[in-house]
Amino acid sequence: MKFSAQPVSNGADPGGTDCRTILLDDADQPIAAPTAELTAALAPVLGCGAFGKTAYQNLLVPLSDSPLGRALLLYRLPNSDLSRLALWAFGDGVANHIAALNFPQATLDLSVFDPEKARAMAESVVLSMCQLDYRYTEFKSTPPPKMKLQHLRFLTQDPQLAETLKSAQILGEAINFARRLGDTPGNHCTPTDLADTAVQLAADHSAIETQILGERQMQKLGMGALLSVAAGSQHPARLIVMKYCGTRAKIAPHVLVGKGITFDSGGITLKPGPAMDEMKFDMCGAASVFAAMQATARSTLPINLVGIVAAAENMPGGRATKPGDVVRSMAGKTIEILNTDAEGRLVLCDALAYAAKFKPASLIDIATLTGACVVALGHQASGLYANDDALAEALLAAGERIYDRAWRMPLWTEYKAQLESKVADLANIAGRGAGSVTAACFLSHFTSEQKWAHLDVAGTAWHRGDTKGATGRPVSLLVEYLRSCAQAA
Ligand code: BES
Ligand code: MN
Ligand code: ZN
Repeated sequence: MKFSAQPVSNGADPGGTDCRTILLDDADQPIAAPTAELTAALAPVLGCGAFGKTAYQNLLVPLSDSPLGRALLLYRLPNSDLSRLALWAFGDGVANHIAALNFPQATLDLSVFDPEKARAMAESVVLSMCQLDYRYTEFKSTPPPKMKLQHLRFLTQDPQLAETLKSAQILGEAINFARRLGDTPGNHCTPTDLADTAVQLAADHSAIETQILGERQMQKLGMGALLSVAAGSQHPARLIVMKYCGTRAKIAPHVLVGKGITFDSGGITLKPGPAMDEMKFDMCGAASVFAAMQATARSTLPINLVGIVAAAENMPGGRATKPGDVVRSMAGKTIEILNTDAEGRLVLCDALAYAAKFKPASLIDIATLTGACVVALGHQASGLYANDDALAEALLAAGERIYDRAWRMPLWTEYKAQLESKVADLANIAGRGAGSVTAACFLSHFTSEQKWAHLDVAGTAWHRGDTKGATGRPVSLLVEYLRSCAQAA
């Protein structure tokens, strides 16, 4: 897909496109000052009342023999003063209608809007269009047809719009990268496959370096919690470390840690059958880390960034961890595993302990951690936990701006008491109530020295039901956050 900015000087029509999208105001008048040709083409349509407020939100007008192209797409803005939410609905609506035309090229005129607004509109359209362009057809013998649209042009007077289009496309493609990893079946996305993904990222981007730790190395580091999760699987665990260097080496990096359970059967505490296939998505946190690394490198952000992925498969088996087993984590704390299905916190606690060695400027983990988070927040907001208010605010604001929202949840010490164990320092489950909170509290025992935040994306990382598939969340939130860090740097 190609997105380009086409300079336009007052009303001059550049022509040469299959379809132009004309934005109309609430009174069904073109928002851009139309050229004489456009006015002539629109007159019969706007004059006959076919495009009435109640009748249509949009209308396709075929043209024959016109220098304007093959058709005009009329699209009414829901209100001329676009709120944040209306903005994303606008992007979605316009992208859907343009894509449905099945033309190879189309043009959208944003030249009359003030630059800030036009950039926000363009960003929203590009992100939606990238979303529509995504297919997961890897295992289809006859793949469904691809999108016809190849080139979307934006008319503008703003010399910076091209830059906006570029960064929106980088983000859109990173989201699709995360979706593809998430959608990949568990037998094609093992911990070693994820490690290969990291090696490929480093090969594609000279600013990224990758290091893969195997089970023996993790043993040496004392990662007993992480290793206990992989004990029942035929696929060995991997700790994947990616370093992006975008500024002076001694500047503290931001560190992202992703839960990379390539399949979560529950282990000996086996999950029930219905929807168990969805547990291939239990590596979506990891996918968002890969995608954020890619977007950061492609945007050459002037920051340092470390991505860590704790990759393992959670399976029952003769050597699998059993309820009641006690393991020692890298941080030295012992953990009684009362439920082998609470495995995300076990791989994360060792990855978070490992992250400390980078002395992070901020440390953020992303995990499909608890079904309880889905109960609490549904599929709209990711659960956000943080031991630092400024970090929490920055993440919330980033999510708000890019429409990938999170909602802050409490990390009160009162909850922590629920994790006490009779035989070890900590138990890995906490009894009834507040399951997403107590899971976050478990992690907080391993991050007290850092500015740390945790995103529980169990409800937001994939769509259920008919549209089942990875969403790519919270890649937008993360990339927007990292871009804000780069801006502040
Ligand atoms: N990966 C799951 C969380 C999950 C479940 C995400 C369903 C999305 C949908 C996680 O490893 C898990 O199994 N958590 C348990 C924790 C419990 C045993 C304390 C859960 O949520 O049931
Ligand atoms: Mn589990
Ligand atoms: Zn899990």
